[in-house]
Amino acid sequence: MNFHVLTLFPEMIEAGLNTSITGRAIDSGLISLNAVNIRDFSEDKHKRVDDYPYGGGAGMVIQAEPVYKAYGYLVNHIKLSKEKDEEFKRPRVIYVTPQGEVFNQKMAEELAKEEELIFLCGHYEGVDERVLEMIVTDNISIGDYVLTGGELPAMVMIDAISRLVPGVLNNEASSQFESFHDNLLEYPQYTRPEIFMGKKVPEVLLSGHHANIESYRRQQAILRTYERRPDLLENAELSEKEREYLTKLIFQKNLDIYS
Ligand code: ADE
Repeated sequence: MNFHVLTLFPEMIEAGLNTSITGRAIDSGLISLNAVNIRDFSEDKHKRVDDYPYGGGAGMVIQAEPVYKAYGYLVNHIKLSKEKDEEFKRPRVIYVTPQGEVFNQKMAEELAKEEELIFLCGHYEGVDERVLEMIVTDNISIGDYVLTGGELPAMVMIDAISRLVPGVLNNEASSQFESFHDNLLEYPQYTRPEIFMGKKVPEVLLSGHHANIESYRRQQAILRTYERRPDLLENAELSEKEREYLTKLIFQKNLDIYS
């Protein structure tokens, strides 16, 4: 999986992703990261890439031309990296913007199927709309708050997508059995010692009885989701027994409210 980022701060992207698990995935060639500096494509003698907005208003707008040229360079670079007889598919271009669809795990899974992904990071008051119309295929936000630029959101998305690439996580199973798998939050985890400041690890986890452990963990996942993110339960896949357990939880809560 090859990630490309059009940005004014390539060093920020590199510093953020060349560490820890994504850094190891880059070193081992499972993913690649190519941060392209939009400023390198400015024709201005001071390498400026922004200008005042037509119609007035606060802030500056990134000009269309350097973005378009950086994009053209990148697409050509990707084309050249392909074998001659390989079919060339124009990569998706994600404009990282608070005006986009809010990113979630399902989107990460869908994007992880792509071979090449281009992220375009805005700054200042935005990017000239004309170049966005020409190159962007997806507008994605990481949440309903406004950051100073698109670099952190791009890194968040690249991290979430990378860990779904086979081999990036040591434990193949762990990218599946996690928060949001099946629309349930993850069950609580414990490690040694067995007793920490008087608090004991749940007995069932020490029993070695795999079926009981599994069913305890599912119940804990349901309980946690019910307490913290009940909105997720609507789309959770639960067995009949698990539904009964959830009904009991809801019933108990109602009793607590009215008692
Ligand atoms: N740029 C600024 N804020 C953002 C956000 N919340 N998501 C994506 N891109 C952004």
